[in-house]
Amino acid sequence: MDLDTALLMAIRAPSIHNSQPWRWRIRPHGVELYTDATRRLTRTDPAGRDQVISCGAALHHLLVGLADAGQGARVRRLPEPTRPHHLATVEPAPRIDADIDAALAAVIGRRHTGRRPFRSWPVPPELTGEMAEIADRQGVGVDIITDARARRRLYRAIEVAAGQQDADPGYAAELAVWSGRTAGAREGVPADRAPSPGPVPGRMPMRGFAGEPPPLAPQGEPESAALLLLSTSADTPLQWLRVGEVTSAILLTAARHGLAASPLTQPLEVGDTRTFIRNHISGDRSSHPQILLRIGWPRPESGYLRPTPRRPLAEVVDR
Ligand SMILES: Cc1cc2nc3c(=O)[nH]c(=O)nc-3n(C[C@H](O)[C@H](O)[C@H](O)COP(=O)(O)O)c2cc1C
Repeated sequence: MDLDTALLMAIRAPSIHNSQPWRWRIRPHGVELYTDATRRLTRTDPAGRDQVISCGAALHHLLVGLADAGQGARVRRLPEPTRPHHLATVEPAPRIDADIDAALAAVIGRRHTGRRPFRSWPVPPELTGEMAEIADRQGVGVDIITDARARRRLYRAIEVAAGQQDADPGYAAELAVWSGRTAGAREGVPADRAPSPGPVPGRMPMRGFAGEPPPLAPQGEPESAALLLLSTSADTPLQWLRVGEVTSAILLTAARHGLAASPLTQPLEVGDTRTFIRNHISGDRSSHPQILLRIGWPRPESGYLRPTPRRPLAEVVDR
């Protein structure tokens, strides 16, 4: 198998603040995935959850890349209980897992986080249904938040979380380091990808990143977005990894349908708002909310965006 081609796809995965918090180790029997402790955003992501979700997304991207090359894989998740930073070992296998859709490889290069406002056309229920099924099959809970009151509560929770984080100088310092990046950077959120400031009709509040997004053309209609909340029955690194894999599958599926998407974890990084979301928005109060996905039709002026930067393979792969 051409492992490097699949690894190049893996590192296109989304990650918290584009921190690319993964390390890959090539072994005679396969490839191992580790979290990179030096890339943990300790103030934004004190539990390390976003970091593992990011690595889960990269693991799914890798499996899609291998499947695209006709290569099946056996995955052992968290194979060493005493070394939790060893997230997965991927070994060649004769068959491709039925849940890995090789056709998603075609959109890995063009998927990106779309923070621009969406069009007013709703996402059809057949498409949100397809995404919910992806989560169902992996045992990850999904709420599609359509109720107007629930959405308002969610928006309020996002604002409360943002207020708390913004008041923390440690959080602000991390955000300053990891966003507002200019051409030539190999990590972090580029300055032109920050969400447009100020309220956009119908848009859920977004995390504020440093930078200057291109100005918005006025739009008469409010944006319409499907909001998916992914949750798990336990709050463990294994479940976080699974959520990352499902996040990747949903984002790539959305991209295949021509939809844009942006993940949001801000209100789940603050304990009070995470509890509020579990008790008042999630359909299952015993579950643990992990990530929100905002999905909608991109406006035409969003146009082509150059891919967000990544570090080269040589920096993230030990051979
Ligand atoms: C676990 C996780 C959490 C994220 N949280 C947010 C967020 O709160 N707000 C946001 O705008 N983007 C969020 N993102 C998107 C990342 O910023 C984005 O993936 C990264 O900058 C790389 O850009 P790309 O997705 O366009 O390749 C998140 C991504 C992941 C995987």
